Amino acid sequence: MIGKFGQRRERRKRPKRPKRRKRPKGRKRLNLYICRMIEGNSYLLAIESSCDDTSAAVMCNGVMLSNMIASQAIHAQYGGIVPEVASRMHQENIAIVVDAALKKADVEVSQLNGIACTAGPGLMGSLTVGLSFAKAMALSLGIPFISVNHMRAHVLSHFIDDPKPQFPFLCLTVSGGHTQIVLVRSPPEMEVLGQTLDDAAGEAFDKSGKILGLPYPAGPIIDKLARQGKPIYPFPIPHIDGLDFSFSGVKTAILYFIRDEVRKDPEFISKHINDICASIQHTIVEILVRKLTFAAQQYGIKEIGIAGGVAANSGLRDKLTEVGRVNDWNLYFPAMQYCTDNAGMIAMAGWFEFLEGIESPLDTKPFVRGMQ
Ligand code: KG4
Ligand code: ZN
Repeated sequence: MIGKFGQRRERRKRPKRPKRRKRPKGRKRLNLYICRMIEGNSYLLAIESSCDDTSAAVMCNGVMLSNMIASQAIHAQYGGIVPEVASRMHQENIAIVVDAALKKADVEVSQLNGIACTAGPGLMGSLTVGLSFAKAMALSLGIPFISVNHMRAHVLSHFIDDPKPQFPFLCLTVSGGHTQIVLVRSPPEMEVLGQTLDDAAGEAFDKSGKILGLPYPAGPIIDKLARQGKPIYPFPIPHIDGLDFSFSGVKTAILYFIRDEVRKDPEFISKHINDICASIQHTIVEILVRKLTFAAQQYGIKEIGIAGGVAANSGLRDKLTEVGRVNDWNLYFPAMQYCTDNAGMIAMAGWFEFLEGIESPLDTKPFVRGMQ
């Protein structure tokens, strides 16, 4: 084909539209739903391998039967997650963890009706291990494969146990990789209202801990030490427009503060570790709670959920309880095993899709970021 300016051009092929998930409509969808409910028990296996935890869970009719997690302590010696090591560890662990989850649930492979697995966001190698395993299993058993978004699953972890939030609710998802405020209108209808522009809240804890010479992950250690200290060192709260967050400035401020104080007194960190930790925690918590309060006021929502590993932080819980009382919020924290990365939340998110008769194509690819 001759192009506009005379040069020879290949006829541009129209890019193939990505295969859409099949969502049965109308009566067919209703029938499917009714069939699933009356046919008897439906068992779903879920797999999560997006970062450094290999996890498998089994759910029956929306009730969690098992949630097994193999954590990778190996990364502590490197001061952070090494992606290549993580994917190799997933390969070693995955069959064992899936087997353990099935055994704990007392469910045979032949009883499974579907397999849900995290497709992203996460580390490419880590995701590939879980996805390949889940797809191969679904294919060999001839049962639906359901791909799940890790961030949506964190939000939907609120529906595993009671009490459950009412729609619409706001979810603050705070983990080592993500910080988001999500408006949840229904399980599939989620809107990210704000997110971090740089580091995640958990990352801010971990990087601050590294400056202080604490082992990885430093979040839980800072939390523990902060309980014995006072937030006497003022670190700046950044002014970011809208509902987005930023933590990189706080990390830099901590770095310079510690460098200057250690120059004056080499023992500064060990002498004041509790107060330093309390000050770091206070600053990170302030950043999170101020934005969440702003979002709740802006959208007029009083149902507030907190998800992700940082939801374990006692300072965050205390502050939210205090602010929640003033603002008349109903606060929801999933059980701790469903806050850190786990396959239970993948099962929950997969279950909503399963009930709707949604399955994903077997050529579903892992993805590093996004809410798709
Ligand atoms: O959700 P998660 O298990 O994994 C990710 O998806 O990242 O979260 C891990 C993060 C780490 O950064 C860890 O330091 C932080 O959660 N974390 C905490 C606490 N427990 C875990 N941060 C502050 N206080 C805690 N108690
Ligand atoms: Zn996570």
